[in-house]
Formats: sequence, structure tokens, C-alpha cells
Amino acid sequence: MNISLEPECLSIQWADDTTSAFPYLWLRDTDPAGFHPQTGERTFDLTSVSPDIEASSASIEADTLVINWPDTSTPSRFSLDWIRRHQPGRPRNDPAFVSPRLWRGDLAGTDIARFTAEELLKSDIILGEWLDATKRDGLSIVEGLIDIIEAGQSVAMRVGHLRQTNFGTTFEVISKSDPNNLAYTAEALPLHTDLTNQELPPGYQFLHCLANEAMGGGSLFCDGFAVANDLQDLAPDLVDRLARTSVPFRFHDADTDIRSRKHVITRNGFGDINEICFNAHLADILDIDPESLSSYYEAYRRFMGMTRSPEYQINYRLEAGEMVVFDNRRVLHGRAAFEPGSGRRHLHGCYVDRADWDSRLRVLSRATLPTWK
Ligand code: OGA
Ligand code: ZN
Repeated sequence: MNISLEPECLSIQWADDTTSAFPYLWLRDTDPAGFHPQTGERTFDLTSVSPDIEASSASIEADTLVINWPDTSTPSRFSLDWIRRHQPGRPRNDPAFVSPRLWRGDLAGTDIARFTAEELLKSDIILGEWLDATKRDGLSIVEGLIDIIEAGQSVAMRVGHLRQTNFGTTFEVISKSDPNNLAYTAEALPLHTDLTNQELPPGYQFLHCLANEAMGGGSLFCDGFAVANDLQDLAPDLVDRLARTSVPFRFHDADTDIRSRKHVITRNGFGDINEICFNAHLADILDIDPESLSSYYEAYRRFMGMTRSPEYQINYRLEAGEMVVFDNRRVLHGRAAFEPGSGRRHLHGCYVDRADWDSRLRVLSRATLPTWK
């Protein structure tokens, strides 16, 4: 192993002959001594050093890289193993990273990952497996919930904070006499994602079925990532239109008027499709340029048509005691109309945001990955 001081960076040639470059300013900004010993937050002030700072010397002592600087008598000390894993240009290891497994209309009900409420409430190991499986597929079923309103939220709270919305911390999906939302009627709900009108639409949705005895009322699901990825292969320019054109969404009732512009398809920093925002009920009056309307409608209708196709849709009839859990920014959900006079239908819902989901995954993984930090 060799280290050398280059004009702009410290270079390390590892025992396996690979080389990593560590710019000097990055080394100062990343010095472990610049982080609070208890909170782990950075206390180093980047503006306190010159942007052109260079190391005056560097050496290796056992498994530690020691760097001396011209402006301080305190050297920076890095564990070699740590600095190799965190070298610039490599994304940080993230135990919450789960590769999505796309599914289409041929997914059988029996293929949906299933867990029992009891095991999720009792075991952190099973909780971690469920978080991972649900993130992978965007969908899972929890069964064996006790017959009380709070049973679903007690599982959700094993993950993190419940996301409050204008519909409350939790919400009742029943047919109401004065609905402010189509979900609170007995009408069919075509596939959609919830609350696209919010600045941040909620991440994971939990729908606990307390009763599903009415005629009709079966659930529908569709993997929006599968639709968007297939459309990308078939007609990439249509995906571009959906990813580049922001469109307005709005929910309003007596107390609220909540609006937000969104893209139907969003990619993450790596270019992968990582968010679907699709709700025809909450789509506000389309206000884009008249010249762009027909090409936007072409893309939007094509996407919409795919979500309606049996090639992508699955049907699942929830039973009392079951709870469906899905990534509301990936998986579209809907239901068939039901006949309220024919029996009781009652779902109880809540949300937990993606960041809380991922945080729980990371914290649970500490037990199995003790070196992760
Ligand atoms: C909802 C919803 C589905 C159902 O409440 O957002 O889509 O099965 N409900 O009633
Ligand atoms: Zn919904």
C-alpha cells in the first residue's frame, strides 16, 4: 500500500493495486474529529479553511491514515477501512436500499408477501423482513389483525410516526352520507395514488379491513414502476413528457384547499424511476400550454390505459382481519363499486412516510451489520 500527496488530492494505492483519490478539502470536511462525539453531527465549519488547502504530510500508522495540515497542529486520523468504504464517487452503503422487484397482472394473490400482525408486533427480525419485502414489491398483506379500529395503526407504529393529513392521523373508509372524498362513497375508485395534491404525497399506506361483507368492493392494485418502465421501453418520449411536465392537483372541501404541482413520473438522482403520482380525481384543471396539450394527453392517456389493462392490474378481495400495505408513491390502488345496503364494508387507514420506513430498516440492520455507521 502506498500514499502520495498529489497537487489536489491525497492518493492511496491499495494492496490490491486499485487507487483512490481523496481531495484535500473533502478530507478536512470529513475528518472524524469534525463531528460531535455524541450526536455524530458535523461541527466542522467548511469556511474556516481555504478552499485550496493541501496536506503538509501524511503517513500510515497501523490501520490509520494520519494527515498533517499547515493551519493546525492537530492531525486528521482516519481508519483505512472506513475511508476506503466512504471514498468520494461511491454512494454510501445504505441498508435501506432495496432493489424494486416489478410485478404485473400475472402476480397471483398467493405471490403477495404475507406476514402476521402478531409476528410483526413481537419480532424485530420479522419486522425487518417485512419492511424489506414490502419495499421490494411495493405491496404486502398483513393478516391476523384483531378486530379493533387501532389494530392496523399499532402495526404501522412499529415502523414510525403516522403521517397526519387533512383526513386525520388515521381515516375511516366507509360510505358516508356527506362525503368530502370519493373514497367515502360506494363508488368505484379507478387505480390511483393518494393525496397527489399534497406537497409530499404520503409514502406507505396501510388499509386494515374490518369488514368487507357488501356486494362488490374488491380491491385493485397495479405496480406503477412496472408500467413506467415498460412505457420507457415502448415509447421513451412519452415517459419524458410525463417526467418533465408538471401538472396541477387539488383537493378542496369546506375547510381546505390544498394544491400542488407534480410530475406523474419522477426519477431519483441515479435516473431510476422512483415515484408515481397519479390521481385522475385530484387532477386539477390542466393549465399547460395549448400547443403542448395534445402531446401531454397522448402520454397521460397511454399511461392511464396501461394501468387499466389486465396486463398490469391485479384483483384482490380483502377479508376482515387483513391489512394491505403498499408504497403509495409506487403502487396504484383502487376498488370496485359496492352495494352499501348489502352488507358492511369498513377499512381503516393510515400512512407512514418513506423516510420513516427506511430509517426503521437502517436501525434494524444495525443488529446484523454492527460496523455500519
Ligand atoms: C382510499 C381508497 C380503497 C378502498 O381510501 O384512498 O382508495 O378499497 N380506498 O376503499
Ligand atoms: Zn386511495
